[in-house]
Amino acid sequence: MLGVPRGRLALIDGFTADQLAEFDALVARRAAGEPVQHLVGIAGFRHLELAVGPGVFVPRPETELLAGWGVTLITAGATVVDLCAGSGAIALSVANEVPGARVYAVERSPAALSWLRRNAEARAAAGDTPIRVVEGDVTDPAVLAELDGTVDVVLCNPPYVPAGAAVPADVADHDPYDAVFAGADGLEVIRPVIARAAALLRPGGYLVVEHDDSHATVVPALLRADGRFVDIEDHQDLAGRSRYSTARHVADCTP
Ligand SMILES: C[S@@+](CC[C@H](N)C(=O)[O-])C[C@H]1O[C@@H](n2cnc3c(N)ncnc32)[C@H](O)[C@@H]1O
Repeated sequence: MLGVPRGRLALIDGFTADQLAEFDALVARRAAGEPVQHLVGIAGFRHLELAVGPGVFVPRPETELLAGWGVTLITAGATVVDLCAGSGAIALSVANEVPGARVYAVERSPAALSWLRRNAEARAAAGDTPIRVVEGDVTDPAVLAELDGTVDVVLCNPPYVPAGAAVPADVADHDPYDAVFAGADGLEVIRPVIARAAALLRPGGYLVVEHDDSHATVVPALLRADGRFVDIEDHQDLAGRSRYSTARHVADCTP
């Protein structure tokens, strides 16, 4: 609105009447429940500012921990897959923080894909290693089948809220339904993602998957039950809620 970065706001002398009217309109939209990220058109995520708006999930701070966990394992030349990429927050953070990583971002929603492509183009223009955007269903074994057995790290923040669960109005009204809800138990995407990750990963490769805080034991149990993972751990977010599980693909196993 003022055309200056947040850090320079204190240096602004004052508002014109037009700017004040625009500000009042933004406050009214926020009061009606519109996410602030939609109002300003960007969401901060780790070191990036991503374009967001209607049709794409607004990346959340808790997911920064999942991305950071992955970044510590990824080196230049590694093959990395972000399943359920949305705006590209995770995939683009990896590309930004680990130059030279080969990053694939898979997303199904046409609306989310247009935000993802826009962000991917902007980051590549800014000098980050370009990512590969893949339109597809993460539960489909044919998607990225050519990478099966070769991927170093799979990262995934899927939809995971049980259908019918109460969510804040700004989530219900402004995040896409398919980005938030995943069947009656919230595991409709996570279950096939675990199987898909087990097929994609090389022996010794890692999976990190975000989940609902009610799934602290359920997701690790699904990983154990798959039979192709070891070193299964659950992790909390900064609020102390169970938030994501990690696991390493074991070599020479029978699913
Ligand atoms: C919780 S959002 C996460 C977006 C992004 N990774 C982030 O952390 O901000 C989940 C995303 O998964 C996508 N999605 C849901 N089901 C999918 C499926 N079966 N295949 C591919 N993408 C899917 C949604 O469209 C949405 O963009």
